[in-house]
Amino acid sequence: MEPMSAAAKRVLLAKPRGYCAGVDRAVETVEKALELYGPPVYVRKQIVHNKHVVATLEEAGAIFVEENDEVPPGSIVVFSAHGVAPEVHEQAKQRDLKAIDATCPLVTKVHSEARRFAAQDYDILLIGHDGHEEVIGTTGEAPENITLVDGPEDVKNVKVRDENKVVWLSQTTLSVDETMDTVDGLRQRFPLLQSPPSDDICYATQNRQQVVKEIADDCDVMLVVGSTNSSNSVRLVEVALQAGSRAGYLVDYAHEIQESWLEGATTVGVTSGASVPDDLVTGVLEFLAERGFTDVAEVESVKEKLTFSLPRELVRDMKAKE
Ligand code: F3S
Repeated sequence: MEPMSAAAKRVLLAKPRGYCAGVDRAVETVEKALELYGPPVYVRKQIVHNKHVVATLEEAGAIFVEENDEVPPGSIVVFSAHGVAPEVHEQAKQRDLKAIDATCPLVTKVHSEARRFAAQDYDILLIGHDGHEEVIGTTGEAPENITLVDGPEDVKNVKVRDENKVVWLSQTTLSVDETMDTVDGLRQRFPLLQSPPSDDICYATQNRQQVVKEIADDCDVMLVVGSTNSSNSVRLVEVALQAGSRAGYLVDYAHEIQESWLEGATTVGVTSGASVPDDLVTGVLEFLAERGFTDVAEVESVKEKLTFSLPRELVRDMKAKE
């Protein structure tokens, strides 16, 4: 047998990874707002769930708050990519705030579905994680009609008014497979359950999971760059483990990687959540290269081309200033 050489240590780098179109738009919204109106620009909640992005925007003059009542009347406030309930828009109006809505258009799509089914008085079973900002925002569209279903275990607790008029919708950043398990469970209980008109789990979540599934079985360790409050990043670790990666870890920065994780590993998978700038992945690749993982193969499962234009209210002000 050939002796194991240093070159045998390799990295499988997932693509697509990192920024999705909705995150790109939300971060650019805050950057452009800072440029246009000057600091401070207030941002309600983390604009996207990534520590590094939030810290960078804070340095540039953004002030992150939890609620509108922390924003001085008359100021600019940006709503995050995860979306807000209609009452948050209402509060902003009452406080005379100038609101710029950076909700991802794919989250807005789920809000419209919720409004549409609620208008027909459906029971809407919203599959998602309890307490996640997106779920809170979507539920706010039709609180009387929406019931949260937090995974397959929660199916048994669901109660509906009319089994003939039930539809499921979902958070955009869930595990595709686990969601399908939840839907199967719901369908066993409610055979006439209707599905959303199009996928609620967004293209970026699906694509990042898809490529991780393709490489996981070849990986001794999967390193996912992302923050612990980022739903889609946490799901990538779970998907990697389910798809055969021997171990999987979530890190915000390269320096969080523990040497012991790499002991005995010859193939390390690397990917990142949809809210992660690629320079953080570069940091991880440099860390790995210093430990002999110099052979990096990028594995691309699908090409992404989607982009979203900036929020209308911001574009209008940008044009007025030209
Ligand atoms: Fe939008 Fe999906 Fe990104 S919902 S913000 S495109 S993760």
